[in-house]
Amino acid sequence: MLDFNTIEKFDKIATPFYFYNMDLFYKTVDHVAELAERYDINVHYAIKANVERRLLEYISSKGFGADCVSGNEVLHAHSCGFPAEKIVYAGVGKSDREIYDAMKLGIEAFNCESLQEIYVINEMAHINGMKANISVRINPDIDAHTHKYVTTGLYENKFGISNHEFDKLIEFIQKSEHINFIGLHFHIGSQITRVGEVFALECLRVNEIVRYFENQGLLVNNINLGGGLGVDYEDPDENPIADFTTWFKTISENITRRPGQKIHVEPGRSIVAQCASLISRVLFVKSGETKNFLIMDAGMNDLIRPALYGAYHKIENLSASMRQFFPTFQAYDIVGPVCESSDVWGAGRLLPLSVRGDLMEIRSTGAYGQVMASRYNMKDLAPSVFSDRLDEAPVAKDYFENR
Ligand code: LLP
Repeated sequence: MLDFNTIEKFDKIATPFYFYNMDLFYKTVDHVAELAERYDINVHYAIKANVERRLLEYISSKGFGADCVSGNEVLHAHSCGFPAEKIVYAGVGKSDREIYDAMKLGIEAFNCESLQEIYVINEMAHINGMKANISVRINPDIDAHTHKYVTTGLYENKFGISNHEFDKLIEFIQKSEHINFIGLHFHIGSQITRVGEVFALECLRVNEIVRYFENQGLLVNNINLGGGLGVDYEDPDENPIADFTTWFKTISENITRRPGQKIHVEPGRSIVAQCASLISRVLFVKSGETKNFLIMDAGMNDLIRPALYGAYHKIENLSASMRQFFPTFQAYDIVGPVCESSDVWGAGRLLPLSVRGDLMEIRSTGAYGQVMASRYNMKDLAPSVFSDRLDEAPVAKDYFENR
């Protein structure tokens, strides 16, 4: 919930913009750092969720590593303070250029997703007189019980290497001189809310697979369980910090860890989702034949999650909360300006009576928001505005923003 003082300041800022609640961000990261130490779990922040430099610099300063999925992410993470030896690099399609750059940097590990990728890395390391650290991403065939677009650990998904190739894989690793096998990597999906159940299942399956590899003579020193911890999109005020405690506890109670073995996790969404909101204005209130539309200045170009996954984000009318204590409510279809019928923020949402110029807050947009934004319809990209630097925000120029 934003205080009136902040909302008043928003009036001077050009919309749309991403508003970062830095207090909540620091609190979240500090909480995770404390739990990581308590449970002896290494955290690699999945930078794909949000690549804002300020956030990354703080996360790296806490000693976390980075999980990257492209050459540019690797370079960006490194430039934001993550040491090369704490950067892991996953992704099913790494180009030769990306592999070479990361190898030269000396990253902690390539999380390899196919046999062919391992052959290529081995050969490139050979040609360049290097030795590359690799971890192998396994497809454990586990249902994460989440949206099908963010489920990654089933055989039907393109990620990881599955059972039928294990023996070939082990044989190749054992005879290859230019790769250094450091462990196994898993990631079964995102926005997992059945935390205790799903992650316990993941651990049990991981235990079996690790045992199989070690029985074949390959030491698995690092077990990386991936990310996936869900956040509360319905009620961000009730649960501003994701349930890291249950996640870490479930892992430590269910994973078999021999001495010297390290456990890694890769949270993305859970670290940043609740720390930002997309702030937008109502451009027009339009009464359609059967419903009322609130037409906003932020669209699917700024945040594609509702259009792409049918994702729910809580929406609040900030200006109305300043106007009236007991407002009259009305149902609206809240939509963006983009020329697509899927550019809908929420259908039939009950909101206080809203008028042109009202400031709206789209909650829980710190993860997979700005990073997935596009310039579709040649729209400008929404900038970042920080709670502790409100005075540096871009000033509003539009007519109604300067009333
Ligand atoms: N590790 C790997 C290998 C991943 O692929 C991902 C996310 C993560 C870690 C971090 O997962 P998280 O803790 O954020 O759940 N755009 C979608 C989410 C895609 C997630 C992709 N992989 C969304 O907006 O819901």
